[in-house]
Amino acid sequence: MKILLFGKGGQVGWELQRSLAPLGELIALDNDSKDYCGNFENLDGIAETVRIIAPDVIVNAAAHTAVDKAESEPEFVRTINALAPSVLAKEAQRCNALLVHYSTDYVFDGSGSQAWLETDTPAPLSVYGATKLEGEQAIIASGCQHLIFRTSWVYAARGANFAKTMLRLGSERDRLTVINDQIGAPTGADLLADVTAHAIRAVQQQPELAGLYHLVASGETSWYEYARFVLNFARNAGVEISVADSAIEPVPTTAFPTPATRPLNSRLNTNKLCDSFNLVLPHWQTGVARMLTEL
Ligand SMILES: NC(=O)c1ccc[n+]([C@@H]2O[C@H](COP(=O)([O-])OP(=O)(O)OC[C@H]3O[C@@H](n4cnc5c(N)ncnc54)[C@H](OP(=O)(O)O)[C@@H]3O)[C@@H](O)[C@H]2O)c1
Repeated sequence: MKILLFGKGGQVGWELQRSLAPLGELIALDNDSKDYCGNFENLDGIAETVRIIAPDVIVNAAAHTAVDKAESEPEFVRTINALAPSVLAKEAQRCNALLVHYSTDYVFDGSGSQAWLETDTPAPLSVYGATKLEGEQAIIASGCQHLIFRTSWVYAARGANFAKTMLRLGSERDRLTVINDQIGAPTGADLLADVTAHAIRAVQQQPELAGLYHLVASGETSWYEYARFVLNFARNAGVEISVADSAIEPVPTTAFPTPATRPLNSRLNTNKLCDSFNLVLPHWQTGVARMLTEL
């Protein structure tokens, strides 16, 4: 099996290089790859890459993920998050490849308190969310065989993320204010990559499993509780943390105005994924503790 991976240097892309390697021949690209074009600004270039390589599976881990910056460059973000996946979908359809793609809780408007189902109606609040939704829709409309995984609050030992920011701020400051009214599940890039490998294998044997799935770690939390977990874990491991647990203050989203509006309810229901692929998703604390231990 030949697998073509885009976005190999990102949080998820990096872990995919590990998890996909045992499945077959892996060709992994980034936006500055030399042998083949992996730059999503070059739509003809990535189409040509797929045609030359003729993979059995295309995995797209590349995306414009700077949510606030996206508000000021919507056309550019649309190229990366919607037009490029659309090109990959057309090429996948042409060469009969399975396309694996990642999307986000930001396709929803964050209303209510129920975990979102795959069948719920998306209503993105931001450029990032809207372009990610357009990317999903283009893939589905192309008719190519696909696996789309919507996930949330991704972290990894490699790359920038909330947990690492909290570790830095927690050792620099003596007070912290953290948002307490956005609820979701921190999800490890390693878990996403491992489930991806399982799902690719499963779809090869049962093509009817292809489709759209929600994929996040079990449990739920707020950014505030997540920050407390990270800092308490680090403190217990002997890391010097200057902010006391009692000096971490919960605040509403409105306390931190940002260019992009974020959904308050980012809960994603994963029953479809667990039932279809017979998988168990570990609790978010298990994965975060593991990442912190690695760090
Ligand atoms: N991060 C999250 O919290 C989160 C939440 C929900 C869903 N997701 C989704 O999960 C997937 C993986 O996210 P991630 O956290 O791994 O993101 P990430 O760490 O930001 O990685 C994104 C990757 O895309 C690459 N990229 C950016 N612009 C590109 C371009 N023009 N051409 C080719 N590659 C380009 C980046 O390369 P450079 O580093 O060289 O720019 C990087 O390798 C994405 O689809 C994202 O939308 C992420």
